[in-house]
Amino acid sequence: MRIGEVISQHLYPAVSRISLIVVIALGAGLFPADALPQVAARHGMVVASEPLAAEAGLGILKAGGNAVDAAVAVGFALAVTHPQAGNIGGGGFMLIRLAGGEAVVVDYREEAPGAATRNMYLDERGEAIADASMVGARAAAIPGTVAGLALAHKKYGKLPWTRLLQPAIRLASGGFPVSYDLAKSLRSESGLLSRDPESRRIFLRNGREYEAGEMLRQPQLAGTLRRIAASGPRVFYRGAIARAIAATMEKRRGLIRIEDLRQYQARLREPLRGTFRGDEILSVSPPSSGGVGLIEMLNVLEPLDLGTPNSFHSIRIIAETMRRAYADRAAYLGDADFSSVPSHGLTSRAYAAKLREEILQSRAEIPVQPGKPLPYESSETTHFSVVDSAGNAVANTYTLNGSYGSGVTVEGAGFLLNNEMDDFTTQPGVANMFGLIQSEANTIAPRKRPLSSMTPTIVVHDGKVQLVLGSPGGGTIINTVLQVLLNVLAFKMDIRRAVASPRFHHQWMPDQLVLEGWGFSADTIQKLEEAGYKLEYREHMGACEAIEIDTQTGWRFGAADPRTGGKAVGY
Ligand code: GLY
Repeated sequence: MRIGEVISQHLYPAVSRISLIVVIALGAGLFPADALPQVAARHGMVVASEPLAAEAGLGILKAGGNAVDAAVAVGFALAVTHPQAGNIGGGGFMLIRLAGGEAVVVDYREEAPGAATRNMYLDERGEAIADASMVGARAAAIPGTVAGLALAHKKYGKLPWTRLLQPAIRLASGGFPVSYDLAKSLRSESGLLSRDPESRRIFLRNGREYEAGEMLRQPQLAGTLRRIAASGPRVFYRGAIARAIAATMEKRRGLIRIEDLRQYQARLREPLRGTFRGDEILSVSPPSSGGVGLIEMLNVLEPLDLGTPNSFHSIRIIAETMRRAYADRAAYLGDADFSSVPSHGLTSRAYAAKLREEILQSRAEIPVQPGKPLPYESSETTHFSVVDSAGNAVANTYTLNGSYGSGVTVEGAGFLLNNEMDDFTTQPGVANMFGLIQSEANTIAPRKRPLSSMTPTIVVHDGKVQLVLGSPGGGTIINTVLQVLLNVLAFKMDIRRAVASPRFHHQWMPDQLVLEGWGFSADTIQKLEEAGYKLEYREHMGACEAIEIDTQTGWRFGAADPRTGGKAVGY
């Protein structure tokens, strides 16, 4: 498709066609947007990180389900087809905005088991025990996904629960062809997966690794899904599946017990709300830092001239804003049900004005302390976006934390458990697997939820949903969502270009600016170095799966992130 045709399908009321052409032409040398497929639809749209799961959601929409029904079906399908992050053994956040205006967050973040203690990952000298919060059964927190999907369906779903699990059951029992990306991911995590006999058997075929195109069948997972379809979340938290989780935990010296599962509840929370240049921003409140960080940064940037996207000027202002928001994350954020989190203060416009002044005067840089180098970012965590024909919208991000979580599969039940305990402050002042320094408010306590960066977000323009988006990427998530939002709302890019555009990331500690290596000009890089930034490079950051709606015509445009193998499907 040619650029002219793309532009004619994206009608921004406030922006002339000419200025769109200018913006697109400026970036054209770096990433060919016309190489990306345009997915436009009149009624419903699903964008997910794995095509079969996206199709499962579309099937539900076409069968008369609403956006929440489709999201539940995608959530279960990804647990089969995208085992590195899709899950029933992890947790996440679902942001729902109904066409009538009601909005809610389903918080189904995992919780620390009752026997968890503040120093459980430290040895007698107070030193971190290597990998203890990341690998094996002790790294797992109480899973929330099944409770979360069930709560969303109970409150807002239309189709019968059993119908929503059918695609996932079919994919698990009949199998599906392993994609090139999945085969590569399984191979690269074979070290983790081979530490657990069940994971080794299911995902590595006891050493005969999957090649792309071979069928992956998961009969035990199909059985688990059939049980959940027949009996609802009860069987997972109180019945046969709960017993299987507890038995695996006892055998592998993990902490989750039947009582932990029995008491777990997904919660409904108020979305965190902000505004940016007249549009309303809805995102998630603690225990995710996503909404607070995003709104804090948007408040700082709102009145500023951000110049040309990805120019030195623009990167500097945005990176300095990121640096300050992540410093606040490290200092203040945690589960607000356990300690006081100053969300209002951090997202106030007065505070943003103070930060802005500091950034513009280029003074008072935060003192540098040593941090762990940022590890390679794999595609752990996954996001999907759904819009239905009535205008209901769902932004859902969920995760096992690291790819394949703790690496432990529940015996007889065929699903992986998370390693979300690593998202707690396991040792104050010491970085987690994403290199993030964590706050005192995020120390481990029984039944507490670890601090997340997940940032499912919806933008509302003139009372109607305009954007639905989110991303994986651990500590980089908030910055990925920020940049895609700015690309649309400030730089006036269409959604494909906004998602494809190169990304950068600053998280305060370690004090470095991380760039996607392919996306920035040599001149810009030189200026950033001259300005004193320590630059690091990464192949890619995040995988934003987004939908934009033209609020005047109602057309839906889907953008699956070209960095990974996702898909946008609509009708
Ligand atoms: N486990 C990644 C996150 O919640 O941010």
